[in-house]
Amino acid sequence: MPDLPELVRRAMRAARHAGFDRSCLPEQGRLLRLLAGGVHGGAIGETGTGFGVGLAWLAAGAGPGTTVVSVERDAERHAAASELFAGVPNVSIRHADWTDLAEAAPFDLLVLDGGGQGKGAEPPLDPRRWLRPWGTLVIDDFTPMTSWPPTYDGAPDTARLHWLRHPDLLATELRLTPGSATIVARLTRAPAPPGT
Ligand SMILES: C[S@@+](CC[C@H](N)C(=O)[O-])C[C@H]1O[C@@H](n2cnc3c(N)ncnc32)[C@H](O)[C@@H]1O
Repeated sequence: MPDLPELVRRAMRAARHAGFDRSCLPEQGRLLRLLAGGVHGGAIGETGTGFGVGLAWLAAGAGPGTTVVSVERDAERHAAASELFAGVPNVSIRHADWTDLAEAAPFDLLVLDGGGQGKGAEPPLDPRRWLRPWGTLVIDDFTPMTSWPPTYDGAPDTARLHWLRHPDLLATELRLTPGSATIVARLTRAPAPPGT
């Protein structure tokens, strides 16, 4: 891809060097850049920094007045990404469990790539608590849906259904490559009042 932002290129190189193959695809990165460009002077969050590929796409789209904060629990990945973004003043990376990012919420744009998605045993996060009114949520890492209701391993895909049917969200699935899809959703209700 000829027009890769320089930080994306460097993050991809670091991931490849470490043998990490779960970085976001360029197709997903372009979507993140596009969405980040719509956040003017607000806050963007990401769970699961990895080596910072998705974060670099977000930073490429975000204006200088927008803060971007990501969280990663793995020490090596956190260190590599922190070094990469050391000179980028509006980007910060926490070394913690994804739930730690709640301190920086609410977000105008929140990308779930390493926690909060509700995949596996963990419950999904509550978008009303994590997003600003009309905030956008991106849930990465799905295979394209081929039937309704969607299935995973022969059973109903409860994680995907949770987001697509969420009463507080207007959500849709985007197929980005023949083998990968992402869910993009917008909050349609105001956040819960504090203390409730
Ligand atoms: C799919 S990779 C992220 C890729 C990255 N967003 C990118 O675009 O290149 C998922 C990352 O989430 C991190 N992760 C997994 N569980 C986590 C948790 N509970 N808290 C924080 N990070 C977590 C993993 O260590 C891994 O680096």
